[in-house]
Amino acid sequence: MKLTEEEQCMLDGKHGVGIQKAMELLVALGEAFGAERMIEISRAHVALSAQEGDTYFCELLVNGGARCKVPTSTNPPWDIDHLTRYYSVTEDELELALRTINVYREIGALLNFSCIPGLEGNVPAFGERVAFSESSATPYVNSVLGARTNRESSPSALAAAVIGKTPEYGFHLEENRRGTVLVDVEATLKGEFDWGLLGWYVGKRVGSEIPVFRLNNLRKRPTAEQQLYLGAELNTSGAVSMYHIPGVTPEAPSLEVAFGGRKPSFEISVEDRHLEETQEEISEKSGKINLVLLGCPHYTLEQIREAATLLHGKKIHPDVSFWICTGFPTMELAKRSGYLDVIETAGAHLVADTCIDQPCWKSFEGASGITDSPKCAYYRERRGQPFAIRRLSECVEAAIKGEI
Ligand code: F3S
Repeated sequence: MKLTEEEQCMLDGKHGVGIQKAMELLVALGEAFGAERMIEISRAHVALSAQEGDTYFCELLVNGGARCKVPTSTNPPWDIDHLTRYYSVTEDELELALRTINVYREIGALLNFSCIPGLEGNVPAFGERVAFSESSATPYVNSVLGARTNRESSPSALAAAVIGKTPEYGFHLEENRRGTVLVDVEATLKGEFDWGLLGWYVGKRVGSEIPVFRLNNLRKRPTAEQQLYLGAELNTSGAVSMYHIPGVTPEAPSLEVAFGGRKPSFEISVEDRHLEETQEEISEKSGKINLVLLGCPHYTLEQIREAATLLHGKKIHPDVSFWICTGFPTMELAKRSGYLDVIETAGAHLVADTCIDQPCWKSFEGASGITDSPKCAYYRERRGQPFAIRRLSECVEAAIKGEI
């Protein structure tokens, strides 16, 4: 890589050890991916995970004097305020969560604790160069907003945040943003749940290719939530950080432009039966449940309104704990709009600042959960907690009955 004089000084440690460590990581990445130079970024999002490795790296930078140079938002760690009321965690887990929050505060990050920064809190505009980690966030940023990010890890996004630059490779280059696989969709996509199944099915088949969706039955422009679910699942079952929908996503006014004049390397088609089979394959069947977990990715105000409408006048079964994860500002708006009251009267909870993949949820292990998100089920099952995947209305129905 060709470095400027200033970048070379950073790498040589003349701006402090923290900057040097961040630069070492970025240069190694750039060299591994064949980047020729560094480019400036305008913002970053770090998927802080309250896991030892990520927190250690942030401490290394902070102790070496590094601070964020560009606006840098953060993923949810834990809802520390509710810990003692609702969940049980070990002292070591609590200590790590507190260390994580404190060190990110010190490095100058925005502690918004949201996994949908592209919708709220840290929204890049078309063409902006950014460094975003978080599997739900990167496809949204690239595909829906038309900003440019690679599929960053927490450390690489944080390193870019303190340098204010990232190596130029991957999705920062025009030629790497073109579609490579044609996905012909005959399936009917009613709500974000179906978009999520579509994402899971396609992600598994395309790996890290760039799918272009030809939606033959599309009647209405997909909503932000539908595209969020599509991207989150594409990037969980596969490694898809960019897709195109001709006529919808900003870099694809047509199928031809989406492919940049090239031919797709292969084609797949998706019918209703593929989505049904996907659900069957990745979901637990029927039976008693003890947990409803929604908000992976974080629920928007519109999704919370929908949940409140379904819960209005109902009562959650006494054996079931019902949680909706969201961002702090959205929770405040839900409170002001009366949705929180409806949700709590039904016996459910809205919770800000946390993520379904945190150890606090192990308090509910020992039975089955239900969610509307394949990503949620995937992460919880890795921790040994089986989950059924159903659309929101069925999750509410199961919560009332205590079973599916
Ligand atoms: Fe968000 Fe955690 Fe799911 S960060 S997308 S709630 S795994």
